[in-house]
Amino acid sequence: MNILITGGAGYIGSHTCIELLSSGHHIIVVDDLSNSNEMSLERVKELTGRDFIFEKIDIADKKKLEKIFMEQRIDAVIHFAGLKAVGESVAVPLRYYHNNITGSLVLFNLMEKYGVRNLVFSSSATVYGANNQMPLTEEMTLSATNPYGKTKLYIEEILRDLSAANSNWSIALLRYFNPVGAHSSGLIGEDPSGIPNNLIPYVTQVAIGKREYLSVFGSDYETKDGTGVRDYIHVVDLAKGHLKALEEVTRSKGIGAYNLGTGKGYSVLDIVRVFEKIIGRKIPYQLAERRPGDLAVSYADCSKAQIKLNWAAKKDLEEMCRDSWNWQVKNPEGYINQKVGIN
Ligand code: NAD
Ligand code: UD1
Repeated sequence: MNILITGGAGYIGSHTCIELLSSGHHIIVVDDLSNSNEMSLERVKELTGRDFIFEKIDIADKKKLEKIFMEQRIDAVIHFAGLKAVGESVAVPLRYYHNNITGSLVLFNLMEKYGVRNLVFSSSATVYGANNQMPLTEEMTLSATNPYGKTKLYIEEILRDLSAANSNWSIALLRYFNPVGAHSSGLIGEDPSGIPNNLIPYVTQVAIGKREYLSVFGSDYETKDGTGVRDYIHVVDLAKGHLKALEEVTRSKGIGAYNLGTGKGYSVLDIVRVFEKIIGRKIPYQLAERRPGDLAVSYADCSKAQIKLNWAAKKDLEEMCRDSWNWQVKNPEGYINQKVGIN
């Protein structure tokens, strides 16, 4: 198939590009590089030995995006492009609404116009809000408390309306839990700009000496050790889930949401312990206040993805942490100032 990948230079997108190319698909990547580096795509080419078209385009730029639809035959779209920092979305909501929602509307309009109605969309576990029981299942009540989460929820709603209006659409809403890890080569991985917001990149930066210590946000939650519990999933397992979702959207019509996680919850201190085992040293940490907006516990029921998509995560927490660490060690400054093939 010919697949248009929006946001393909990013963390999850670049890993998915590898899986798609390795399975024989053709890809066209569009990304404005607002939160990524073209080096990730060079590495994808190096790892797969496959070439593909890359256009540096903001998906909200209709004219430029339409040129791609006019010139290429596209069978399906995987839509990763979006801004994802929760705190930033609270500070600059209009930027998030414009980028994520306007960008998606431009894309969906072009898909409708050019008759490309197979779509896999990057949603998030954040759409379950704060009031559901664990494990989270796809039919639970949805809500969002911050602009980032609302963009995911609103785009899901837009897609449900689109599917109801035109039964030719075929859409998979993939609700990711906490993607971590990196490709086993250590050539591609998560490359946060500035101080990482998320746990794993923060821990690896402490482990490599870039940050002094980890602040553990909250130690009085009702969990086994008082720290927050999450469902971490290896990014390569997650990437493979997109191939399965793609198969599903090309064989049936309609819209479906799928949780992509492992179904297991690990605490912040579990993560610290696993990293300590891998690196053979202590990770300095301090117990700190809860982070506003955080949940105590979040983990998925992934049985729907297993049954309908024939997908299940395979990699365990140790492999997730080992691969994150391998990426960090091989790329201490991320992609900046690197040349293809130096590792
Ligand atoms: P990322 O920032 O690494 O990748 C997103 C990519 O989209 C980046 O390369 C960025 O440059 C690009 N982009 C952003 N706005 C664009 C625009 N208007 N036009 C073109 N390109 C644009 O993030 P990621 O972690 O790979 O996440 C991919 C998707 O998955 C996002 O939609 C994110 O919200 C969603 N998601 C991520 C997580 C996570 O923890 N990483 C969890 C749930 C959902
Ligand atoms: C965060 C986002 C969520 C997004 C998800 C995946 C917030 C409030 N939520 O979720 O919307 O979908 O990332 O990108 O930002 N922790 C520490 N110290 C740190 C960092 C994190 O103790 O320096 C803890 C957190 O409190 C949490 C766990 O580690 O218990 C995981 O945090 P994180 O990686 O940021 O993911 P989420 O909080 O699940």
